[in-house]
Amino acid sequence: MDFQGKKGLILGVANDHSIAWAIAKTIMDGGGECGFTHLPDRPDDERQRNRRRVSQLTDKYEQAKFLVPMDAQDDEQIRGVMEHTKKEFGEIDFLLHSIAFADRDDLGRETVYTSRSGFKLAMDVSVYTLIAATAAAKDAGILKPGGAIATMTYFGGEKCVPGYNVMGICKAALEATVRYLAYDMGPGGVRVNALSAGPMRTLAGRAAGVDEMLELYELMAPMARNVTHEEVGRTGAFLLNEASDGITGEILHVDGGYHAMGSPGRLLDKVRAQKP
Ligand SMILES: NC(=O)c1ccc[n+]([C@@H]2O[C@H](COP(=O)([O-])OP(=O)(O)OC[C@H]3O[C@@H](n4cnc5c(N)ncnc54)[C@H](O)[C@@H]3O)[C@@H](O)[C@H]2O)c1
Repeated sequence: MDFQGKKGLILGVANDHSIAWAIAKTIMDGGGECGFTHLPDRPDDERQRNRRRVSQLTDKYEQAKFLVPMDAQDDEQIRGVMEHTKKEFGEIDFLLHSIAFADRDDLGRETVYTSRSGFKLAMDVSVYTLIAATAAAKDAGILKPGGAIATMTYFGGEKCVPGYNVMGICKAALEATVRYLAYDMGPGGVRVNALSAGPMRTLAGRAAGVDEMLELYELMAPMARNVTHEEVGRTGAFLLNEASDGITGEILHVDGGYHAMGSPGRLLDKVRAQKP
């Protein structure tokens, strides 16, 4: 995919399994330049583990132009990152938001027992940060007309996926946010979309119960398999590329077709075969 001369910001790389890294690699392999953020390290963490995990990746890429800390719950830090980006790049062509978090206690609980504080935390990190990052980029004047913003979502925001619990509520809100931001940003020539990925083994994915979902997707998805990081990387890059220039407010599924099923499909054969 051609990203020659294009520049942008990638929010949400934690390690080499991160979906944001798969998307960033596709962009950089296409000639694009990326700036990255990492979750700030605790002051008492001398080994700076968060930074190190990401710099181990970005250091290998000439196209990776900077790496700065950012806690997306802190508006000042978001503003600082946008100012830094302006200094380094001037304007940007793309912004990837690939951030989510919920407390494990709340994720593991039935939705009916979600705590108030856990609900606020999950919604703040997983939803509001898209609004905050978009607003800060807009106010910094760095979003080029013709540019694109993308975020990451999951099918548990559309339908009840037991186990996804509070994060499903967050993804429903995130998808609505995409549509409203697409409307606000449209006249300025900026598109806003979401990629709805099938389950992938990542830090966030494991916390949200991905391991159990992988087999289910193999049995139920029309493609009878799970999707790869490369596939998600390519579609994520597509949404951030001018190749998708007429698309906004869209939730694009990269899930082997799982979302299109209205029955358990081949999983039924397995259930039938197990019946005495
Ligand atoms: N893994 C999956 O199966 C899957 C499927 C569909 C959608 N998604 C979504 O993809 C996105 C990326 O997740 P991933 O699977 O690559 O896992 P990941 O753990 O690699 O990425 C999550 C990122 O969120 C960041 N983050 C969390 N709290 C933050 C904060 N306060 N400030 C800044 N950054 C913060 C983490 O540092 C990390 O980089 C998430 O929105 C996730 O819900 C994941």
